Amino acid sequence: MDKLLQVAHLKKVFPQKDRPDIVAVDDVSFSLQPGEKLAIIGESGSGKTTVARLIARLTDATEGKIILAGEDITRAGGAQLKKAYAKMQMVFQNPVDSFDPRCTLGDGISESLINHGRSRAQATAITQKLLAMCELGEEFARRYPHEVSGGQCQRAAIARALAIEPQLLILDEATSALDVTVQAEIISLLNRLQQERQMAYLFICHDIALVQDFCDRVLVMQAGRVVEAGTAEEVINNPRQAYTRTLLDSVL
Ligand SMILES: Nc1ncnc2c1ncn2[C@@H]1O[C@H](COP(=O)(O)OP(=O)(O)OP(=O)(O)O)[C@@H](O)[C@H]1O
Ligand SMILES: [Mg+2]
Repeated sequence: MDKLLQVAHLKKVFPQKDRPDIVAVDDVSFSLQPGEKLAIIGESGSGKTTVARLIARLTDATEGKIILAGEDITRAGGAQLKKAYAKMQMVFQNPVDSFDPRCTLGDGISESLINHGRSRAQATAITQKLLAMCELGEEFARRYPHEVSGGQCQRAAIARALAIEPQLLILDEATSALDVTVQAEIISLLNRLQQERQMAYLFICHDIALVQDFCDRVLVMQAGRVVEAGTAEEVINNPRQAYTRTLLDSVL
């Protein structure tokens, strides 16, 4: 099967004045098949968010390659990036910033759909459907980002990302702020989409039980590098690295 995402020798250096440069991501390589659910775990500051931001083209790679559905997007911008965003969407931890404060959540989601070629009528219908699937009632479409709770805004951000019907969804601690029952609903929605549409996930999460339950494979990051990789079963139940064992012990 063709790979959906291929990341090769990815490196990100943040140059610093008067201090050593920060190497946030160092020689990270992995790939993702359509429909696969891959988790990245690792201690705080290990480079997980930077990997997600690199793939999502929110920051430029210092070295390495990012191939999405056969296309090299390492330096993508403009029309090529827009095309990439039809295949790949991401939800980060602080979604409030990702919505325009002057637009209602409904308009924010609809605009994104219109941007990706839907008519206004289609966009409105899809928005309502997705908000409902993310456990948000009809009235949320008319609310502004500052008028909803953090968890509600998070669900609206997930709804917006799913509305595009991407092949890959990157979730960076995107379900962490949700209470357990809503989180379970979102995870079951993600599982359903994985089965129905072969949707793949890059899932960054501190909740090891959730990772074990949801993901097929796990990458473990330490100081910018992947130090262990395997099936969720292998990595969580039988970690090879002392670092992974300590990481798992500290969160369980
Ligand atoms: N814009 C930046 N400028 C300088 N250093 C940065 C920048 N962004 C991240 N870093 C550094 O890069 C390293 C990796 O950060 P990153 O946010 O990727 O970690 P993380 O694994 O997502 O951590 P957490 O679990 O706390 O979210 C950290 O040392 C961080 O301080
Ligand atoms: Mg992070």
